[in-house]
Amino acid sequence: MSGTPRLRVWDLPTRLFHWALALLVVCSVVTAQVGGLWMDWHLRAGYAALALLLFRLLWGVFGSRYARFTQFVRGPSAVLAYLRALRTGGAAPQAGHNPLGALSVLAMLAALLVQAATGLFANDAIATEGPLAKFVSGSTSDFLTRVHKLNQYVLYTLVALHVAAIAFYRVIKREDLLRPMITGDRTGVAGEPARDDLAMRLRAALLLALAAGAVAYLVTR
Ligand code: HEM
Ligand code: HEM
Repeated sequence: MSGTPRLRVWDLPTRLFHWALALLVVCSVVTAQVGGLWMDWHLRAGYAALALLLFRLLWGVFGSRYARFTQFVRGPSAVLAYLRALRTGGAAPQAGHNPLGALSVLAMLAALLVQAATGLFANDAIATEGPLAKFVSGSTSDFLTRVHKLNQYVLYTLVALHVAAIAFYRVIKREDLLRPMITGDRTGVAGEPARDDLAMRLRAALLLALAAGAVAYLVTR
């Protein structure tokens, strides 16, 4: 059967990571807003998000082609050149994250890591505190709680920009970025396919277990 050639860009672990992370972030925000008894679930969702984030850092080193940081992290000059190309309509679709998308990915990962890490030391002055709050002074815990509360707005801004960018590519550039994050495949771009076989998936499961183990160790101190 002929047709547009498909290229595997996002391996299954990266796709599962993405949708699970998005779901957990929504759960974390909702449970924190409702508060009360839901704070138990806020902490659990936060731990799971932290485990996923640690997994993604490992996957950025040991994952398949387009998931690797060395593949998509570019310097400022590449980002500026991409922005210029975008303005003049010359930014060709590419497999993997484009230089601007890469920036947004790094910003989201960093903001989420700050959010989950500060949460571990946070307190709500009523009944809930993070499992590591007991290891720092009250004023340090209060400070990290303030960071946790302020950083939520950084997160909302980044996620809003993220979703707006996907819509921009869809409507203005006629590039569908969403489908590849579901099926794994892009069409109409050149490049080597990402490895997405059973061995890679087992490797991902092992790395996720490592990340989850590290979080479990931290939160049971
Ligand atoms: C990605 C993960 C997380 C997100 C998106 C998130 C988000 C939030 C948000 C939106 C609030 C409400 C702040 C406000 O009242 O304005 C909050 C509060 C809180 N979070 Fe998280 N959080 C995360 C992870 C964690 C973790 C891992 C812990 C602890 C282990 C934690 C502990 C707390 C505590 C104790 C509060 C209450 C602060 C207060 O009301 O004074 N969070 N979080
Ligand atoms: C709380 C919500 C979300 C968070 C925290 C989030 C975070 C991320 C992160 C970290 C990546 C990088 C993936 C990687 O390389 O591992 C990413 C990529 C992506 N996300 Fe989201 N995301 C969220 C919601 C959404 C939603 C609602 C959509 C659908 C419109 C979406 C569509 C995508 C797409 C299409 C990509 C790939 C972009 C590309 O081709 O470069 N995300 N997202």
